[in-house]
Amino acid sequence: MAGRHHAAILPQKGGPLSVGERATPEPGPNEVLIEVKAVALNPVDYHQRDFGMPPVPIYPAVLGSDTAGIVAKVGSKVVSTAPEPGSRAIAFASSFYQNGSADHGAFQKYTLAQSEGVIALPDALSFEEGAVFPLAVMTALTAWTSIGIPLDTRYTPQDKQAVLIWGGASSVGTFAIQSARSLGFTVYATASRRHHEYLETLGAHAVFDYKASDVVAQIVDAVKKDGIKLHTAHCVVEGSLQPTLDVLKETKGDAVAKVAHSPVLPPDHPTLDNTEITFNFPPMDPVARDKHMYQCFHGWLQGGLKSGSVVPSPSVQVEGGGLEGLNAALDTLKVGVSGRKIVVPI
Ligand SMILES: NC(=O)c1ccc[n+]([C@@H]2O[C@H](COP(=O)([O-])OP(=O)(O)OC[C@H]3O[C@@H](n4cnc5c(N)ncnc54)[C@H](OP(=O)(O)O)[C@@H]3O)[C@@H](O)[C@H]2O)c1
Repeated sequence: MAGRHHAAILPQKGGPLSVGERATPEPGPNEVLIEVKAVALNPVDYHQRDFGMPPVPIYPAVLGSDTAGIVAKVGSKVVSTAPEPGSRAIAFASSFYQNGSADHGAFQKYTLAQSEGVIALPDALSFEEGAVFPLAVMTALTAWTSIGIPLDTRYTPQDKQAVLIWGGASSVGTFAIQSARSLGFTVYATASRRHHEYLETLGAHAVFDYKASDVVAQIVDAVKKDGIKLHTAHCVVEGSLQPTLDVLKETKGDAVAKVAHSPVLPPDHPTLDNTEITFNFPPMDPVARDKHMYQCFHGWLQGGLKSGSVVPSPSVQVEGGGLEGLNAALDTLKVGVSGRKIVVPI
């Protein structure tokens, strides 16, 4: 490509991001160069900008992971299902698994992404809608495999398998619900009242207001009434482990309960007898991780988008300003969102 492009560069720990020029890289054998059209923001992005956590190994850095754009160029050994140059694409473009390489990172006009994380963007979806998927989908799906549930699981109603998703209106939570439905779980979720009907359209069987003082009793009663043994859960948001364990204590019967926990798990976290609590994280081994990423994007997401069973979620909140607007958009996310995914057209 041998050109230069604009990037929102993090010069040092604590930020802010500052727009400058970078050399546009050539894709390596298994890489795709994306011309970025929209980026979606995640809490990890402002954690890295403001606190350098998770660790940012090299400065200047380029943050971000979630993009939709146009394939500019592909390497010589990309996966056979990767989209071709000129086509619209969804890409997981993060420097996190690339030793902090600033050539990978969504917050720039051209980014590299490994081909396991790049799929076609359906014609019916805008770039803004396409950007909402990558990290949230990968996190929601990794929760299943973290607790030993393969992504090709297809329970039938006779199996009576249920899951509790605490934080259903979050970005990760909405894909936890969509994926739980595709695996065949009966889905119990928590969210603010105003999101209940929406989460039911995504596949929740019953949604409970986590702000109700008797929310635990409400969930336990519903599970018992449904005649289901509930021993699987995904704690999507901070503070959800204790109430989740309170529910499982009453609903798990003799089964070993399994809980995936997406926020960082503090060492002194609450526990429950006969219950395994696992921090939700992709495999550390690069070969296993690449295979997992392929299954997430080229398997579950690509298949779901083709069949129409997976939709962008939650609602997109577009923030303007392009690369220059990213600091303000990250500040907006940091204040907190409710059932919204912040997306910035680039
Ligand atoms: N382990 C990993 O690899 C990984 C990867 C990505 C993200 N994460 C973590 O996953 C978490 C979710 O990220 P996200 O991007 O999905 O967040 P998000 O969309 O910003 O989450 C906002 C939502 O959280 C909900 N919420 C907040 N407190 C709640 C509570 N006590 N009970 C139920 N819902 C609550 C709110 O629901 P209402 O609107 O209904 O009030 C709101 O809609 C974050 O902690 C993030 O750091 C981990």
